[in-house]
Amino acid sequence: MSTPDLQKIIAGIDDLPTLPRTVLKITELVNNPKSSAKDLARIITDDQVLTARLLKLVNSSFYGFPQRISTVNTAIVLLGFDAIRSLLLTTSVFDLFAGRNKKSKQDQEKFWDHSLGCAVGAKVIGNYLRHDKIEELFVAGLLHDIGKIVEMLYLPDEFAKVVAAINKKNILMLTAEENVLGYDHAEIGKLLAGKWNLPIKLVQVIAHHHQPASAGSFITEASIVHLADILCRALNMGYGGDNKIPPLDKLAWESLKIKADCMELIMETMQDEYNDISSFIS
Ligand SMILES: [Fe+2]
Ligand SMILES: [Fe+2]
Repeated sequence: MSTPDLQKIIAGIDDLPTLPRTVLKITELVNNPKSSAKDLARIITDDQVLTARLLKLVNSSFYGFPQRISTVNTAIVLLGFDAIRSLLLTTSVFDLFAGRNKKSKQDQEKFWDHSLGCAVGAKVIGNYLRHDKIEELFVAGLLHDIGKIVEMLYLPDEFAKVVAAINKKNILMLTAEENVLGYDHAEIGKLLAGKWNLPIKLVQVIAHHHQPASAGSFITEASIVHLADILCRALNMGYGGDNKIPPLDKLAWESLKIKADCMELIMETMQDEYNDISSFIS
């Protein structure tokens, strides 16, 4: 059976979501150690929609600042560069996919809940491990399965076959994707993240979230997202496309050196933060 050529599909889709230019500018700026809060404020204030969105977010109950924040500068000082970038990236990516295909809207929502669960999990595990880039982990968790959304929207016939195979043969989504397409959502996600010019760390974590040991120097971040992916399934946060929980990668688990008796606390914290953030986003 011939399978669709992934490179051709990605190259041939004219309306493949492109990240808004402003968000890309912000990503570049945050990656540049010479940039200042003023530079960031200038980019955001040039964009009325982003300004309004940012002020709405910092004034929401999610952050709970006691006073009303009315300027972009104050918001940046209070939240920090990385947090601003991940907030804007998150809401922009949600927007890109929202309402693109009404038929699969429900499925997409369940996937986003799964992604949100994974994002929260990556953040909580990162905090436990005292990782210094918590917001990056959050974004990585949020985007880890972005390839599945591309399958749903741009390969609907093949995606239906993948779903049928999962249910009929009781196999994991990765196996079903390999059988039907010859590649999986991690590879699709890697290509999309590359097309979006996302930082290389993010591209690598998306590409290797099922085999973190192949993520090279980003093994820690890939392992964190891998573990978060499994935990959010165990906690029933959304639906990741599988009917059974994929196995935990032994090397990933060992590389993180998390004490087994801390897992309960990690999962409790995950559940609390997930409840908070999902009520805020909805
Ligand atoms: Fe995945
Ligand atoms: Fe996942």
